[in-house]
Amino acid sequence: MCANGATPQTRQTAAPATENTNRRQPFPRGFLDTIATGWADRPDQSPPVRPQAPYAATRRDAVSAAFPGRRLVIPAGSLAQRSNDTDYPFRAHSAFAHLTGWGSDAVPDSVLVFDPTASGHDVTLYLRERADRTTAEFYADASIGEFWIGPRPSLAGVAEELAVATAHLDGFEPADDDLVVDRDAALTQFVSELRLCKDEYEIAQLRLAVEITVRGFDDIVADLPRIIATPRGERAVEGVFHWRARTEGNREGYDTIAASGPHACYLHWTRNDGAVVPGDLLLVDAGVEVDSLYTADVTRTLPVSGTFTPVQRTVYETVREAADAAFAAARPGVTFRSVHEAAMAVIAARVAEWGLLPVTAQEALDPDRGGQHRRYMVHGTSHHLGIDVHDCAQARREMYYDGILRPGMVFTIEPGLYFQIDDLTVPEEYRGIGVRIEDDILMTADGPVNLSAAIPRTADEVEAWIARR
Ligand code: GLY
Ligand code: MN
Ligand code: MN
Repeated sequence: MCANGATPQTRQTAAPATENTNRRQPFPRGFLDTIATGWADRPDQSPPVRPQAPYAATRRDAVSAAFPGRRLVIPAGSLAQRSNDTDYPFRAHSAFAHLTGWGSDAVPDSVLVFDPTASGHDVTLYLRERADRTTAEFYADASIGEFWIGPRPSLAGVAEELAVATAHLDGFEPADDDLVVDRDAALTQFVSELRLCKDEYEIAQLRLAVEITVRGFDDIVADLPRIIATPRGERAVEGVFHWRARTEGNREGYDTIAASGPHACYLHWTRNDGAVVPGDLLLVDAGVEVDSLYTADVTRTLPVSGTFTPVQRTVYETVREAADAAFAAARPGVTFRSVHEAAMAVIAARVAEWGLLPVTAQEALDPDRGGQHRRYMVHGTSHHLGIDVHDCAQARREMYYDGILRPGMVFTIEPGLYFQIDDLTVPEEYRGIGVRIEDDILMTADGPVNLSAAIPRTADEVEAWIARR
């Protein structure tokens, strides 16, 4: 007997054990006799070709040229189970999105295949054709049936929109000598490095992602009184940003970090279950991902009361000085690494001045014996940004960290200082202060452009922003 008094449900018809869920009811004969009929014709859609299609074609040409004679397979990936019969929202593999131009509406289980020919490759996008209304898939499959999830695109429609040949997924046959992204190191590295320099479509999408993110940060500042009044105010911050991300973009490009007070010292604090308390700093690291899957990645640190205390201001302005030094060091032709080094020189100098280091700043900056200052900023200053928040992660070191900054690269500058609440190496008034300032930078032939400059950055600007809203 169940706790609620009901007897355990007995199935009315025999069915495979895997279908034995209490939510599935058998379909009676009358339903089965009528469900396939009585539907209006679906008009043939002829969607326009999407603006990203020619860019994706150019990227596919580069992949084809790099792997002559090899069959290449780039799967979109599949739905991932969250629990029982609920899944996480589907998110196509970044290489798949980059090479197809298919973003938030990509169909799970699709596969992009490069079949070698005498002169290059024939490229085919395999996807699951929409199911006819006479099929059980249409009405009974809760994960892909159109009765459940809404209309799916047709093979012909996808071929037109993305300007690529399409075929039914059932026709895709894997072969032993396929090079499969994420399984073959050379292919995985190539498609990651292919994203290091963004084309004009990608730059426009990143600008859009940042624009919406700017509004999301403004929403948070405008809502500070309600956030402070909410017991789990950090969740309120997350929710306010989520509203903007979902209404104007696809979603967030990563879990929002909403960290008040000492939580700001936990670099990826996403539990977000604390209060937002006047007198504390609130660190918000959030970015909107747009439908093409390009994402912003921005951090601002706000005095919850509207005004920095003197020690908070000192720490904040030091982080800003480090960010400005990194920005000044960034130009075409220098190494990616040198941007980080410029920020770290400021961090080391200031924490040495404050008496926090057992060595001099110069000794701390020694590549072998130094690093004492890194206790207060363990993360890097920059990462590439694009379809992934940490984009191009499989690129070789000589192309990434030791690589040269080129026009078209988009990366973050995000120094920080984090004084843990129980760090006995810092004076008491510093403990529990965490500050990060993160901007999204586009490198051009003329130098760096701060795409997120519209969000107030200096301590004075931040105070004025809170006062205004
Ligand atoms: N939001 C993660 C990062 O800044 O890298
Ligand atoms: Mn970042
Ligand atoms: Mn970030």
